[in-house]
Amino acid sequence: MRSIARRNRFRPAHSPEQGYNTRLKLALIGYGNVGRALMRLLIRKRREFPFTVTGIHTRSHGTALRAAGLGANPAFGPPAASIGEFLDAADADTAVELTTLDPSTGEPAISHIRAAFARGMHAVTANKGPIAHAFASLSEQAENAGVGFRFESTVMDGTPIFSVWRHNLPGVEVMGFTGALNSTSKIVVETMERGGSFEEGLAAARAMGITEGDGAFDIEGWDSAAKTAALANVLLDARTTPQQVSTRGIGHLTPERIAEINRAGKTVRLISRGRRTAKGVSLRVRAEVLDRSDILACTPGTSNLILFDTDLMGTFGTVSIEPRVEQTAYGVFSDLVDLWRHL
Ligand SMILES: NC(=O)c1ccc[n+]([C@@H]2O[C@H](COP(=O)([O-])OP(=O)(O)OC[C@H]3O[C@@H](n4cnc5c(N)ncnc54)[C@H](OP(=O)(O)O)[C@@H]3O)[C@@H](O)[C@H]2O)c1
Repeated sequence: MRSIARRNRFRPAHSPEQGYNTRLKLALIGYGNVGRALMRLLIRKRREFPFTVTGIHTRSHGTALRAAGLGANPAFGPPAASIGEFLDAADADTAVELTTLDPSTGEPAISHIRAAFARGMHAVTANKGPIAHAFASLSEQAENAGVGFRFESTVMDGTPIFSVWRHNLPGVEVMGFTGALNSTSKIVVETMERGGSFEEGLAAARAMGITEGDGAFDIEGWDSAAKTAALANVLLDARTTPQQVSTRGIGHLTPERIAEINRAGKTVRLISRGRRTAKGVSLRVRAEVLDRSDILACTPGTSNLILFDTDLMGTFGTVSIEPRVEQTAYGVFSDLVDLWRHL
């Protein structure tokens, strides 16, 4: 398969009418919440979509391999000595990178994806680190290797964003975007609006499983900065990193300040903004005071929303209401289907 992937440039090989007969063999790197949800989805849809997981590699649970396909609860053996050794042993067409995010470097996910491309494998990831830090060079490497690279779940879980631009808006140029993309900050603000403390809001978000580590990553705006950099790299060709996004989070907000804002009929949202300018691309994340009727303030709880400003399609947007890990897994699944249809 590797030599075939190298030989054939990555482009549609047949139409829906002709059918899609090729099986896609998957090597999963990371088997946590998203990996397990993806496995459940693959099993649920296996009659219609012939995907086989031939290997799973984790940091501390070890490595599982089975050419005929692994089930939802694989027996893990000793870990492969390196990602290269794992990918070679799994003998798959596609690497699915689902490891923990390192927002400051994007590693080791970037190296994992590079190792896959070097072997003529396609790569799909839900990890926004590689897109926020190295999108241009990874895309170039994929192009040179003649393989596909997909990353739908890196922003707004599985909600179609990148695939919409890839498949549905020919000729349309993105001039900018505005998004309420961080759920933890919204839960904290909503808790304070109900009379709770900042810490109670953070604890509520953590109990919902939507907060990373100690929560500082979300509260200080770095999650939003990583998503902003990822969107800008893909849609505005910004070639930027999260560190280059002007970022200020919600850490300075107090229940007293929130009550004052509420009395004026307003609320606060952590907003990501990206825009083409005469000097390049302007990117920022801020806790913005918004009218309650502002569309950016209207989505409840963990819901996310993004608006795009375009040259031909005016302004339009996408909203995801209370997404869960199943929707993240679906974004990965939709990427796999997209690749499979182009094999
Ligand atoms: N959860 C969501 O709803 C969601 C939404 C959008 C995007 N994402 C992104 O999707 C990715 C996965 O999220 P998750 O919630 O599934 O994370 P998770 O539950 O923490 O699982 C991470 C997995 O990655 C493995 N891992 C970490 N470092 C590794 C390394 N160096 N080599 C091999 N395996 C490694 C871990 O191994 P061990 O099992 O041995 O620890 C674990 O299996 C993250 O990048 C996250 O930001 C998640």
